[in-house]
Amino acid sequence: MRSAVRSRRPVSPRLAALALVALVTLSLVGLGCRRLTGSFPNTGSYPADVFTEMHYQQNFRSQESPRLASSLGAVPITGRDFPYTPGQYAALENPTPITPQAMAGAAELYRVNCSMCHGAAGRGDGKVGDILVANNYGRPPDLTAGLTANHTDGEIFGLISEGLFVMPKWKLLLNEQDRWLLVSYLRQLQGR
Ligand code: HEC
Repeated sequence: MRSAVRSRRPVSPRLAALALVALVTLSLVGLGCRRLTGSFPNTGSYPADVFTEMHYQQNFRSQESPRLASSLGAVPITGRDFPYTPGQYAALENPTPITPQAMAGAAELYRVNCSMCHGAAGRGDGKVGDILVANNYGRPPDLTAGLTANHTDGEIFGLISEGLFVMPKWKLLLNEQDRWLLVSYLRQLQGR
């Protein structure tokens, strides 16, 4: 008579070790493959928080201007950010001194952030402009022409800060000093 209990073959230690290695490797790869770029909190938390190091802290991401915390115990006195009215910026004066160094920085800011739409010399002939036109949007305006040239520094600062229809709200992307530098740079492009 055959025994009802089949004798199990012992698992070879080599196979067990291999299986363990495969399991650990697979789980590490699995964890590593989770989408994770940039920093907390915009991408959620880290998949495996073994050593938290500096993951959870007030930080700012690449291309974002510094976000500084208010001092401990401070209370807001200016209320919320009111909607933009065109006249709101008109009387502001450009506080950034115009030095060759500052203008070199301004040229770089313009090249990186604006030239693809408004063109290298601000004539509205950037490559992205062609794409906008092909998709039924308007061509980015010539920043050396009347429309911009006839605005005050403050108004141009406002246009840059608040964006328009296609143009992004640059106040969310560039700090105040950079936006003023760009105003100076547009003046230079306008030959003023
Ligand atoms: C995605 C393309 C794009 C980028 C990038 C862009 N702009 Fe514009 N900009 C436009 C368009 C299009 C307009 C016209 C208004 C609209 O449709 O938003 C405009 C309008 C303006 C105006 C108002 C012009 C006027 O005469 O009324 C100013 C000033 C301006 N841009 C400056 C800048 C500066 C400075 C930067 C870089 C920090 C920049 N723009 C980046 C597309 C762009």
